[in-house]
Amino acid sequence: MTHTTAPILVLGGTGTVGSRVAAGLRAAGRAHRVAARRAEVRFDWSLPGTWPAALDGARTMFVLLPDQTALPDDFLRTARRHGVEKVVLHSDRAVDVMNVTSLQAAEAQVRASGCAWTIVRSDWFDQDFETFFRQPVLDGRLCVPVGSVRQGFVDAGDIAAVCVEALLGEDFAGRILPLTGPVALSFREALDHLQRVTGLRVEFDGTPDGYRAALRGDGVPEEAVETLIANFAAAAAQGDTRPTGVVEEVLGRPGKDFGAYAEEAAARGAWRQT
Ligand SMILES: NC(=O)c1ccc[n+]([C@@H]2O[C@H](COP(=O)([O-])OP(=O)(O)OC[C@H]3O[C@@H](n4cnc5c(N)ncnc54)[C@H](OP(=O)(O)O)[C@@H]3O)[C@@H](O)[C@H]2O)c1
Repeated sequence: MTHTTAPILVLGGTGTVGSRVAAGLRAAGRAHRVAARRAEVRFDWSLPGTWPAALDGARTMFVLLPDQTALPDDFLRTARRHGVEKVVLHSDRAVDVMNVTSLQAAEAQVRASGCAWTIVRSDWFDQDFETFFRQPVLDGRLCVPVGSVRQGFVDAGDIAAVCVEALLGEDFAGRILPLTGPVALSFREALDHLQRVTGLRVEFDGTPDGYRAALRGDGVPEEAVETLIANFAAAAAQGDTRPTGVVEEVLGRPGKDFGAYAEEAAARGAWRQT
């Protein structure tokens, strides 16, 4: 198999970003293989026996780890043995300030793997408002302890498009790509966009006390909540996000703005009560 006919392995390829990466590769006419626990090719990070079938014949792979999941120590060695030469790792723009140890370790492993690599560090996804913020939005109250600091919400479609460029081309080898949307917005401003297109009025509480109270019912251990609050405070202390312009640099077009995202998501019923 040549480099252009070998399937590109897409790990995490059924989720918010990964499904869009797979769609981008499909649109580009590139052979690819989506592997996850509930995908045609079954792959489970915790079951090394499932790895070879996913890796077989792949030269390039996209790696997206589920939340709070470590990259197993021997995974990249196994991938190298199977002939993988290039990795695009999806990471987090707040990897250091929020102390995301699983992704810090994954980044270090990828950089030391001997593969050509690109690390894509995303800010908050626009789509968070229809995944883990969806219920708070529908309930009319969202608590994130970052006050009115402006965030770099970025569209998952744009993140995926950048990942596809990095997977298919050579220009981004050895680069860390920090992705934000085109305009930074506070949570209040983002929720105002949502209200404009859905009519839903959502109260925003950016205080630690509000967050503590919101998480109390969720069974999250107190210590973990306090660690999260401290990490959010460290991130907020950096002040308003300055858009990085990397989406625009890589894609050669403007990134999708939050208002356009909100309109499209509302039109497909993202916040319709079920
Ligand atoms: N949300 C944000 O604002 C944000 C910002 C920056 C960075 N990030 C990072 O982005 C990642 C989350 O991205 P996402 O929202 O696109 O993910 P997602 O929608 O939650 O999708 C997770 C993917 O991983 C697969 N998966 C889950 N458990 C697995 C396992 N044990 N073995 C193999 N595959 C498994 C899932 O498929 P199956 O369930 O079928 O296995 C799915 O394809 C995290 O690393 C997070 O830290 C998120």
